[in-house]
Amino acid sequence: MPVEKPPTQIMLVSGSLRSESVNTAVLRTICSLAPGDGLLQVYGGLGDLPHFNPDDDREGEPLASAVGELRKQLAAADGVLFCTPEYAGALPGSFKNFLDWTVGGGETYRKPVAWINASSRPDPEAAAGAHQSLRAVLGYTGATIVEEACVRVVVPRSSLVRGLVVDEALRDQLLRALVALIEHCAGEAGVD
Ligand SMILES: Cc1cc2nc3c(=O)[nH]c(=O)nc-3n(C[C@H](O)[C@H](O)[C@H](O)COP(=O)(O)O)c2cc1C
Repeated sequence: MPVEKPPTQIMLVSGSLRSESVNTAVLRTICSLAPGDGLLQVYGGLGDLPHFNPDDDREGEPLASAVGELRKQLAAADGVLFCTPEYAGALPGSFKNFLDWTVGGGETYRKPVAWINASSRPDPEAAAGAHQSLRAVLGYTGATIVEEACVRVVVPRSSLVRGLVVDEALRDQLLRALVALIEHCAGEAGVD
């Protein structure tokens, strides 16, 4: 009897804590476009993570529950899709804190990852500092950056309707990024 492969699970992580976040809206839109239920999981614990301290990340010692939950969700995901704003030319502190907690656990080692740069400015350099930092940090963790799934889209806050991206061309770009990441993950799962 053929063994059915489990569907690819993608964890979606917004770098913004703002309730009306454009970046979170982009990920919510991707969820609404997903080709099936249960494939996508939006991480909701960014604001619950304690400040990263190596003293609190020692092998064999208990982790804060929010950190344990983060590592459980990362371990269960086949891939991770990020969407973060830029603050003062760099990553938001709370999101960098999230990334710092991923270094010691090793859950993102060789994990396919990608990001959507959803800056509101139609400038090719918009939010470049944040995304250069994200690339560098993910490189340290040993994640596999799936270049074909990393996209830049222009999403003005005023274009959102009920917290979702409604422009068809934009929605198509978002879906293509997701599909590129899923296809990469599925391809890796098929390799012995
Ligand atoms: C404190 C602060 C610093 C910011 N710095 C930058 C910046 O350096 N570059 C940039 O392109 N946008 C910057 N912005 C604009 C945000 O990136 C923009 O508001 C973005 O939509 C926020 O994303 P969010 O809606 O998902 O929170 C900054 C915003 C804030 C609040």
